[in-house]
Amino acid sequence: MVKLAIAGGEPVRSKPFPKWPIFDEREAKALISALNSGLWGIGGSRKREFEEKFARYQHAKYGVAVTSGTAALEISLRALGIGCGDEVIVPSYTFMATAMAVLYVNAIPIFADIDPETYNIDPKSVESLISDRTKAILPVHIGGRPADMDALLSIAEKNNLHIIEDACQAWGAEWKGRRVGAIGDMGAFSFQSSKNITSGEGGIIVTNNEELYIKAWSLHNCGRLPEKAWYEHYLPGANYRMTEFQAAVLLAQMERLDEQTEKRMENARYLNSKLSKIDGVRPLKEDDRVTRHAYHLYIFRVDLEAFGGVSKAALAKALQAEGIPASVGYSKPLYKELFLEYFKKCPLSCPHYGKHIDYSSIKMPVTEKACYQEGLWFPQYVLLGSKEDMDDIVAAFEKIRDNLEDLIKVSKSH
Ligand SMILES: Cc1ncc(COP(=O)(O)O)c(C=O)c1O
Repeated sequence: MVKLAIAGGEPVRSKPFPKWPIFDEREAKALISALNSGLWGIGGSRKREFEEKFARYQHAKYGVAVTSGTAALEISLRALGIGCGDEVIVPSYTFMATAMAVLYVNAIPIFADIDPETYNIDPKSVESLISDRTKAILPVHIGGRPADMDALLSIAEKNNLHIIEDACQAWGAEWKGRRVGAIGDMGAFSFQSSKNITSGEGGIIVTNNEELYIKAWSLHNCGRLPEKAWYEHYLPGANYRMTEFQAAVLLAQMERLDEQTEKRMENARYLNSKLSKIDGVRPLKEDDRVTRHAYHLYIFRVDLEAFGGVSKAALAKALQAEGIPASVGYSKPLYKELFLEYFKKCPLSCPHYGKHIDYSSIKMPVTEKACYQEGLWFPQYVLLGSKEDMDDIVAAFEKIRDNLEDLIKVSKSH
């Protein structure tokens, strides 16, 4: 009798999915060459080359390579003059850095709900949250899927707001043929180790606005200005500069990015078609306006009733036991994260703000459903597997659906 692996049966697969990061001689040569140049930071040419190449890749005029995606967000907010007493609207379903960057510049994150079909920020929710303090919208292209930039740009224009794109999961992603990052005023990308191109850590800011570029450049380089003297400082900058080693690795990683993105998209399309036929599994909606999806995450929805009413975590564990690296993803809305306690004094009760924010009273129903019941993920490297690997994912779901008694029994015993 077939038994679920979680109940002691044979797993659907024991073979690993492709290992991440992927690298070869190109990264090794690039690193040795950076080492031998003797210019490991300031004065080297690789950071500049990467900034130009990546900005062009994202259809942007300018790039500033920094230490992380979080730093890229923080610098973008600062360059736009956002600070004390200002509100920035962010999605509730995202990594904590999206809201932390807002708090770091002493501004107030205002949490919007997400669209149930895309898990991206819901423009209707954004509109309902605009106040006389709102200065910017900070949409996240979640999992590499562009947010509804048409709706967001129109809201921003109508209300005189800035848009900072959190594109930390969205290298090469396109909204109606235009790459994300500089569709709004500024955009931030991450190159942390799980990301689709990585240098271990790192980030970049992109923009089409020369003035914002110069401000961001100055803020990431101790307040200096490009053509001025080394010890002249014009803005309250700090050192957020990317090293030559990181830039060298990223230039090599970029060579594989298009091919890997195509592969992820092809496998995601295949999974969408197969998983949508399984009772209780609903992929996110496909949308013609998303002309390129970066698929940092393959996010899909489950109906737990169809899986015997077990928890999302129990279903993820059952998939993991079958050899499928499923993740529960964000397990609570960002407004519920305890770190917000630390900011109770300033900026949240800052006299310049003058308002009282009570995050404990927020309830965004779509985000709560996504976190607690519905949203599961596969990490990007899963989508670099073969068609047979994708079939194993489908087989694992079918096996679990056919053996719900095992799943219910094991989940009750835990
Ligand atoms: C949506 C989002 N925003 C911001 C970040 C922050 O990037 P970093 O880890 O490079 O600071 C991440 C990274 O995980 C992210 O996923």
